Amino acid sequence: MSWELLLWLLALCALVALVVQLLRFLRADGDLTLLWAEWQGRRPEWELTDMVIWVTGASSGIGEELAYQLSKLGVSLVLSARRVQELERVKRKCLENGNLKEKDILILPLDLTDRSSHEAATKVVLQEFGKIDILVNNAGRSQRSLGVDTSLDVFKELIELNYLGTVSLTLCVLPHMIERKQGKIVTVNSLLGIISAPLSTGYCASKHALRGFFNCLRAELATYPGIVVSNICPGPVQSNIVKNSLVGDVQKTIGVDTDQSHKMATSRCVRLMLISMANDLKEVWITDQPFLLITYLWQYMPTWAWWLTNKLGKKRIENFKNGLDADISYFKAWKTKHD
Ligand SMILES: NC(=O)c1ccc[n+]([C@@H]2O[C@H](COP(=O)([O-])OP(=O)(O)OC[C@H]3O[C@@H](n4cnc5c(N)ncnc54)[C@H](OP(=O)(O)O)[C@@H]3O)[C@@H](O)[C@H]2O)c1
Repeated sequence: MSWELLLWLLALCALVALVVQLLRFLRADGDLTLLWAEWQGRRPEWELTDMVIWVTGASSGIGEELAYQLSKLGVSLVLSARRVQELERVKRKCLENGNLKEKDILILPLDLTDRSSHEAATKVVLQEFGKIDILVNNAGRSQRSLGVDTSLDVFKELIELNYLGTVSLTLCVLPHMIERKQGKIVTVNSLLGIISAPLSTGYCASKHALRGFFNCLRAELATYPGIVVSNICPGPVQSNIVKNSLVGDVQKTIGVDTDQSHKMATSRCVRLMLISMANDLKEVWITDQPFLLITYLWQYMPTWAWWLTNKLGKKRIENFKNGLDADISYFKAWKTKHD
């Protein structure tokens, strides 16, 4: 075979490989490190069993589904949120899954914004189970309003809950992990902790703050290789987050169910979260296209990302004001309900 032919063959192979990778990327629903970890097959079932796992925001959405999937792995669960009845419902369903007994699940009511209660709550968990292997900081709330139309109280509420509440609980649990020289702090952040989008000024700020805090904390804990700090950054996922979003005023939420058909299934998001937890990944992005591509642009080509954000953002604001497309049909419904 001549050198020329060999070079052509190599170039063809490289082209085919590139096209295959591009096609895989178009179908991807997580960042490439995460999907690589999934493909390698180190499974949560092998890594997380027998651990004590404390989940905040376990009464709904991502936290609720996380409780169900964890209950199948045979862990000890602490379920926290404000609504005890909802936590009881989640606990019953976890027990129906068959792997856990009554004593394996502790319901611990917790208002994340009541920081004075966090120390005592941590003590209760330690008294009950003797250790905390994983803290999943999941509770949170979003916002749908233009910054200019939003009262300062909304910004305060989002920082109190999403940022300060999460930091406060983490600081209560951390000394215990440092003493044991092991543990995982897993925080459900958001793509909006990395990128920016209109109508979420306060939410974005709280999630950017969280990411900054946990990235610094990870660097400070470098002398404790057994303590893992993970940021989980989902894109749109089916849950009650939009329904509970604050709209301009701290007393007002969207309050109605919205079309969620275009969003990632909660079960898939949580499966990828578990893979991330089992593989000790520092940060993962869990999202379908085009949000995955947009996040890569924000990370590696910010000038392009700004151009795209401005273009899409204008349309998003326009739609928001007119209550037009699927993304914001909830707002139309909300307006109809309240007008
Ligand atoms: N779904 C998405 O598209 C998406 C995308 C990116 C990031 N996230 C993040 O995912 C996390 C979970 O949200 P979700 O989508 O599952 O929304 P969700 O269905 O509305 O669940 C939110 C959870 O947070 C709890 N919570 C709210 N305020 C609280 C407080 N003051 N104290 C304690 N718990 C409180 C709620 O329980 P109670 O009301 O019973 O207290 C509920 O269990 C949030 O951090 C959110 O920012 C979601």
